[in-house]
Amino acid sequence: MQEQKLRSRNWFGRKGRDGFIYRAWMKNQGIPPDMFEGKPVIGICNTWSELTPCNAHFRDLAEAVKKGVLEAGGFPVEFPVMSLGETLIKPTAMLYRNLVSMDVEESIRANPIDGVVLLCGCDKTTPSLVMGACSVNIPTLVISGGPMLKGHWKGKDIGTSDVWRFDVAHKLGQISAAEFVEAEACMARTQGHCAVMGTASAMAAMVEALGLSLPNNASIPAADARRKVLSQLSGRRIVEMVKEELTLSKILTRDSFENAIMVNAAIGGSTNFVIHLLAIAGRIGVELNIDDFDKYSQNIPLLANIQPSGENYMEDLYYSGGLPAVIKEMKAIIHNDAITVNGKTMGENCAAAEVYDRKIISTMEQPFKPESGIVVVKGNLAPNGAVIKPSAASAALLKHTGKAVVFENIEDYHARIDNPELDIDANSIMVLKNVGPKGYPGMAEVGNMALPKKLLEQGVTDMVRISDGRMSGTGFGTVVLHVSPEAAIGGTLALVQNGDIITLDAHNRTLHLEVSDEVLAVRKAAWKQTEKMHPRGYVHLYQTHVEQAHLGADMDFLKGGSGSEVARDSH
Ligand code: FES
Repeated sequence: MQEQKLRSRNWFGRKGRDGFIYRAWMKNQGIPPDMFEGKPVIGICNTWSELTPCNAHFRDLAEAVKKGVLEAGGFPVEFPVMSLGETLIKPTAMLYRNLVSMDVEESIRANPIDGVVLLCGCDKTTPSLVMGACSVNIPTLVISGGPMLKGHWKGKDIGTSDVWRFDVAHKLGQISAAEFVEAEACMARTQGHCAVMGTASAMAAMVEALGLSLPNNASIPAADARRKVLSQLSGRRIVEMVKEELTLSKILTRDSFENAIMVNAAIGGSTNFVIHLLAIAGRIGVELNIDDFDKYSQNIPLLANIQPSGENYMEDLYYSGGLPAVIKEMKAIIHNDAITVNGKTMGENCAAAEVYDRKIISTMEQPFKPESGIVVVKGNLAPNGAVIKPSAASAALLKHTGKAVVFENIEDYHARIDNPELDIDANSIMVLKNVGPKGYPGMAEVGNMALPKKLLEQGVTDMVRISDGRMSGTGFGTVVLHVSPEAAIGGTLALVQNGDIITLDAHNRTLHLEVSDEVLAVRKAAWKQTEKMHPRGYVHLYQTHVEQAHLGADMDFLKGGSGSEVARDSH
């Protein structure tokens, strides 16, 4: 490859004062000039942070990537971007996904980087980094941090999905406060992201299914030495990708997006997948809409028996053959010729995969569960759509009519849910407003509201719940999410009143509020926005520009990309 084709030559290849400055301030790091002059410069975009515990091992992974880059004749440069720790960031990490994507986009474009490796792990770190990189579109390869090893407590395997169960058991006095605390360290006992098919694992699978990572990226545990091997091999490969000019847009085609949707269905991936994949498609310029998720996952059964849709953990998936073995089972329906970062097709990457345990990875003919994927329901309550994950729901509730019990916002829910006087029974439908993109703001993961204590005590384990918010990928239940338009902008959801009748029919893809158009018009005329609009700062920018859930909740001005050119580039 001609040296001048490298972007980095616009910095290090310059003559005169500019070149002097660009090179001198690399040499002050003790780097000999032949390390970076004329070689592909590989950025390692690192979301390491002690405030993102799932990504706290990323310095080790970055070192492995650097080894690989150097071995292949490239020059690695590691740089930080804002990191989003799902467990610690308030009010919700999703509020900052778009902000991080801006950080990533501008950091890549503004610097002498020819190719970039994205180190992602905890939920939002993956979509935010991929979105930002798409808007630049240089050769890009993704490495996920890998799942934790499964936890063990009192002789049982445990993972993040058990947090919801422990909470209920604690409320009912079935486990003590001391046991509750003891379980914390037993569950989160190694480095890595959540050990079940939560959003982080679904995102790791998404990048592998899109072709953005080397095979097996999705499931090698964080603590397994092979995660470092994958990182080193990725470091070698990104240098080759720069030479081949294998940019993101050559990999992210309509076919690769359809593959990702089908694979997400087969593994019981998170509902958050919908919102993030839509946003990524918007950045790279591939036409994708919310109905595609239903269309392409409709006939895909659940192949992977992993929590929360099944019983097992991500490490079990790896030991049973990993994602390539799942994809191979789907070879009759997948786009096998979709190209991936290693230059091979998806079909080639999965051809040699084997299934070692049929209890973990089933066949298309005899699946673990016949229904999976994402169902998109529409109706007067969600004209632009809402989503539900059938594999994590109660089959009996997928068609259900009930009386609405309405919570105006999350504070109202917390204040009244355990009030013994609350007029609610097992057939009621719980409705939560104002937790959408603009309303919360940031579309919090509160859609799988805990049931009232008095019903839990009666043995009720699931109820239909509807909101404009999201649900943790580790959560479960008959939960209708992402209602669009959201309540905070006056969607029909804002007009629901206590006692209204709602019918959910997931089989026929409908969600209907049994209130006449005339009555809704009267309510709409009287409706007033109740949620606070922030007057300044990033949150103001977000609330002003964030789009609705059915479009991916990106900001309107971030759609598409600006490429890798820098308009004014001299000092
Ligand atoms: Fe980071 Fe679950 S909290 S992946």
